[in-house]
Amino acid sequence: MIDIRQLTKRYGGNPVLRGVDFQAGRGEFVVVLGQSGAGKSTLLRCMNRLAIADGGELRIDGIDAMRCRDPRALRRKVAMIFQHHHVVPRLTALKNVLTGRLGSVSVLGSCLQLFRRQDIALAHACLARVGLAHKANERTDALSGGQMQRVGIARALAQQPAVILADEPVASLDPHTARAVLEDLRSAARELGITVVCNLHQVDYAREFGDRIVGLAHGRVVFDDRPDTLTEADIERIYAPSAEPAQPAPAPAPGAPIMLAAGLEG
Ligand SMILES: Nc1ncnc2c1ncn2[C@@H]1O[C@H](COP(=O)(O)OP(=O)(O)O)[C@@H](O)[C@H]1O
Ligand SMILES: [Mg+2]
Repeated sequence: MIDIRQLTKRYGGNPVLRGVDFQAGRGEFVVVLGQSGAGKSTLLRCMNRLAIADGGELRIDGIDAMRCRDPRALRRKVAMIFQHHHVVPRLTALKNVLTGRLGSVSVLGSCLQLFRRQDIALAHACLARVGLAHKANERTDALSGGQMQRVGIARALAQQPAVILADEPVASLDPHTARAVLEDLRSAARELGITVVCNLHQVDYAREFGDRIVGLAHGRVVFDDRPDTLTEADIERIYAPSAEPAQPAPAPAPGAPIMLAAGLEG
């Protein structure tokens, strides 16, 4: 489902991904574990083309994600979940989940918020899956942080994606709620056959929930195996301070155009 080979990405002169190899199968729940700055978010952003990798190969469900002309085709297959649930506060939980269908309805339909009956049924089913059937008609700003994050998961599921990318989805939740949210994600992977790549920086959650852990340190994969094989030495490698200081950006040649790093590249 995901096949990444020797992926590289620099920001200015700073190598952030230094040749990442990473494969994931259908229905796998892969935790990408690493300290802050390891390159986890950059890896996810390359997977849905919010960032453009510099080199290597990146295929998702048969699409060549580095060369495809239409990023929307990729983004229909790839749903994102962020640390800060990007839900629309004034909309009901149900309408937030229905926005997950916008990639599949006509422009006119989406402007008029015309959703097909089957989309509404699907949105209800997705809310039920994350335990929020009873909150469908409540405004999202009346929900707790954990419930908002679950609305975000339900919206991702309503997109019927092949892959869900979750970037530190539980970083701002208490441990009890965090576990419940990770459980929802894992059961979605198992029961719906969705490949989930979930960035985390906590070892205990990675061990508890990952089918597999990919340890990322300073832009390189330093561990890739089942959680029960993760040793203290592996954890030290994942959290080791960088041996290679960041390179300063090379001075541009005289007369060369100056490039500015942009947040959203494609
Ligand atoms: N848009 C950007 N422009 C410049 N540098 C960036 C950008 N995004 C990330 N970086 C740098 O890339 C490195 C890895 O960042 P990130 O992928 O966010 O790591 P993580 O998610 O593991 O904390 C950091 O040094 C960060 O400062
Ligand atoms: Mg990050």
